[in-house]
Amino acid sequence: MRRRDFLATAAGLLAARTARAAQAHIEVFVDEPIGTISADLHGHFTEHIGGVVYDGIWVGEDSKIPNIGGIRASLVEALRSLKPPVIRWPGGCFADSYNWRDGIGPRAQRPRRANFWINDPFMVKAPDGPQKYEPNWFGTSEFVRFCRLTGAQPYLAADLRSLPPKDFYEWIDYCNAPAGLTSLADQRAAQGDKDPFGVRFWGVGNESWGCGGDFAPDEYAVEFRRYTAWLPEFGVKLALIGSGPNGGDIDWTRRFFAKFTEKGKHALHQMYGWALHYYCGTSGKGQAVDFTVDDWYSLLAKSTRMESLITDHWAAMGEIDTEHRVKLVVDEWGAWHKSGTEVHPAYLFGQMPTMGEIDTEHRVKLVVDEWGAWHKSGTEVHPAYLFGQMPTVRDALISALTLDTFHRHADKVAMSNAAQLINNLHCLFLAREDQFVVTPNYHVFRMYAAHRGAQAVRALFAAPAHPAQENQQHWSLAGLAGSASLQGKTLALTAVNTDAAQPLETEIILRGASARSARLSTLAHQDIHAHNTFSNPNVVQVREEAFDAQGSVFTYRFPPASVNKLLVELG
Ligand code: AHR
Repeated sequence: MRRRDFLATAAGLLAARTARAAQAHIEVFVDEPIGTISADLHGHFTEHIGGVVYDGIWVGEDSKIPNIGGIRASLVEALRSLKPPVIRWPGGCFADSYNWRDGIGPRAQRPRRANFWINDPFMVKAPDGPQKYEPNWFGTSEFVRFCRLTGAQPYLAADLRSLPPKDFYEWIDYCNAPAGLTSLADQRAAQGDKDPFGVRFWGVGNESWGCGGDFAPDEYAVEFRRYTAWLPEFGVKLALIGSGPNGGDIDWTRRFFAKFTEKGKHALHQMYGWALHYYCGTSGKGQAVDFTVDDWYSLLAKSTRMESLITDHWAAMGEIDTEHRVKLVVDEWGAWHKSGTEVHPAYLFGQMPTMGEIDTEHRVKLVVDEWGAWHKSGTEVHPAYLFGQMPTVRDALISALTLDTFHRHADKVAMSNAAQLINNLHCLFLAREDQFVVTPNYHVFRMYAAHRGAQAVRALFAAPAHPAQENQQHWSLAGLAGSASLQGKTLALTAVNTDAAQPLETEIILRGASARSARLSTLAHQDIHAHNTFSNPNVVQVREEAFDAQGSVFTYRFPPASVNKLLVELG
């Protein structure tokens, strides 16, 4: 039998003065704004890894698979329904081995290169193909067209490990200079893209503490200054994103900011965002679909570590950046399961050999167990989709818990990019040849779109907590967590019941507001392992219904293992 703790704090106080039957309480303070929830908090990430680009996004113009100029039509259609704000490309670790010039000009003449991930043990065994030998069919123009088709802003990650700064500013020139002004703009126009791409978001390297150059933080600070000292703008206000910490590595943040500003705090004006990467995984069975109830609680508990990562790095940044000019950009996050559920064996779902080597003591405490376990293999469904995994209801809860965390910190986090979009870690879509399916993660992004552009307001969630443990480490997982936002007279309240088996009778109190009517959306399934497959695509879906909410206090019984959204019209 599982032990259950009780969060005595807010719950205890609330319980004393409200309905006895409720096991949990939510209190929304509509007059206590936190910040505007940027649509960019719901961004995506696409890397040349495993099956993300080839075959996930790019199927080719001559393919029998329905496509728009070579781009998978079913993906474009599904993404349009999500209105994706921003998509990051081309990596990830791949970015720091990528020469953008390889991906421009006539497709047939582009060079073929060994993909960054070719030496991953998973990929060594994978069949030869574009996942191993990068054909450069999908380059800058193709990516920007993909973004335009879906309505997303492009976010490009520049190569700081293997190319000099000149290539960075020439890539900006190629993308943003009006045709007729520079030779690179003319090259772009000759390929059919007369209009500049207007790329605003630029990553200055990726994981520069590891695969992106193995720098020390002070070395990277110097490189960041050098790479960004002069950049052509062509009328686009560039938003430069620094390669921030690996999970809890506060030392990386602290030492970077100290060195970065050693010549003066004006340097802070050069940086839009500080990228934080955090993946969660389990060392139990650690598998995407086959997991125990203990694995359920430990993985969910690990995913909620995002909260302290944001507040800890924010505090460290604030030691130097006292006005908080630089915001956090969580441009890689998600659950990283052991391999075994790839839809194709070349969709690399392997591992990052450099990570464990670079790790500091901070990391050992917090995440090393996860890395070790992820590398076990033997259950792959197909050998070419590196890092491919089958998202379940559990992943949907991780998406919801994480997006809610970003909303609660809307004043600190400017962007996030779930890793990765398709056929990979924590993905929203799976595709193989002409088959395509949306995963439970997709449904959460759709539900949560209601928060975009709204004002995040303070909300308290109080419920019995769940103990979680793994390898002698113990955590307490909140029984109920979520976020609230206000847009005009509409309150969006999203909440996750993390209990794997029990519903949660919850009293919802609106402070300073009163409900007139409400609509409810719920993602839940009696089997916590439930997932959507090509042959059974609607196993996990969202149920929508009217909900009887009147006045300032009402109750709702949150189903077990559920993601919920209440859209409340206020009086
Ligand atoms: O998302 C997979 C990999 O994880 C990325 O390439 C890298 O940046 C991160 O470590």
